[in-house]
Amino acid sequence: MSSFDLIVRNVTLTDGRSGVDVACDGGRIVAVERGIAAEAGRVIDAEGRLLAPPFVDIHFHMDSTLSLGNPRLNESGTLLEGIALWSELKPHLTVDAIVERALRYCDLAVSQGLLAVRSHVDVCDDRLLGVEALVEVRHKVKDYLDLQLVAFPQDGLLRSPTALANLKRALDMGVDVVGGIPHFERTMAEGAKSVAISCELAAERGLRVDLHCDESDDPLSRHIETLAFETQRLGLQGRATGSHLASMHSMDNYYASKLIALMAEADVQCVANPLINITLQGRLDTYPKRRGMTRVPELMAAGLNVAFGHDCVMDPWYSFGSADMLEVAHMGLHVGQLTSRKASAACFDAVTANPAKIFGLEGYGVAPGCHADFVLLDARDPIEALRLKANRLAVVRRGRVIAEAAPRVSHLAIAGRPQTVEAWRYAPVAAG
Ligand code: FE2
Repeated sequence: MSSFDLIVRNVTLTDGRSGVDVACDGGRIVAVERGIAAEAGRVIDAEGRLLAPPFVDIHFHMDSTLSLGNPRLNESGTLLEGIALWSELKPHLTVDAIVERALRYCDLAVSQGLLAVRSHVDVCDDRLLGVEALVEVRHKVKDYLDLQLVAFPQDGLLRSPTALANLKRALDMGVDVVGGIPHFERTMAEGAKSVAISCELAAERGLRVDLHCDESDDPLSRHIETLAFETQRLGLQGRATGSHLASMHSMDNYYASKLIALMAEADVQCVANPLINITLQGRLDTYPKRRGMTRVPELMAAGLNVAFGHDCVMDPWYSFGSADMLEVAHMGLHVGQLTSRKASAACFDAVTANPAKIFGLEGYGVAPGCHADFVLLDARDPIEALRLKANRLAVVRRGRVIAEAAPRVSHLAIAGRPQTVEAWRYAPVAAG
């Protein structure tokens, strides 16, 4: 009888197949089928629970995470006060402090089954301490977490005098992706110019580009239109990402219908950040108060690849968050009213397979030949995982269990009535 490193028996997969065994050896998945007749160094009985590929966060800021309250809290709750507050903190940053916070966050991420993170790193500090720190962190965590870095000119690629030179220096230091923030430039024209420069740089260097694009409530912001145009002009289809796209929420419907078709033509990758969009946008509204998240259902319906990012955890912009991508997807589902079974399942994809595609992760998925990276959730299917923010019972990286948790059980002070996930299980009621 053959022997593998790990077998997880009796799992349910995200596509609905159940009663399946997953065998791993040499860091790869070697078999996904019923009744694998083999031994293994470790065997886990999943008892029918969901085994999913790991969560992927495609939009995060690891240089600012866990800095909440330093040097003070964001009182207005706006994006602009967040940027001002971060500028106050920047002169006091050290490489060691950024590394320490980032590593603490990576531990938290792993415990939540989050094994790939694309993090923006601010390059508007001539010392480039954030870049130095996160390049070091990327190396330190590589055995258990894929960290991809975006050179992000927080104060504006053109508005900040040294940003463009610093961005190029960051790429030379090994940062993976070109960033930008066109809506923060001085004029719409300067914003458009910055989009063109970012895309040209990406094309020249054979890199991906990911812009904070139209993160505003301005219905006339047009940088995503420029990004779609430049993507097509420079042959960056599939490699260019528009993050936030919040202004699309406020746009005229006729214009949006033209724009979405242009985005689909260019295969622009779309990222919404539900927790952040719902808290930062609409701050100057009275009532009705806009939600500020981009048009996720319409983008998905047009065939665009849409992912949800966490964006911030306990930093100048957001004082909540726990590296839980199910919480992110849960918020996206609610804000986008994605409540049908099909749309809810798409929200699970928006924190797993969709961002993996944007990231360019090799060997992602639960199939023979893929990396043996996955998470066993205390749920029977993706929708139940979202509803219950299911515990991560086992997190596996390259065939090795790197985090474990117990199923959620509440011991009621009423004899004989422990409450487990089973008590919350959805069972369709027969008609009549
Ligand atoms: Fe961001």
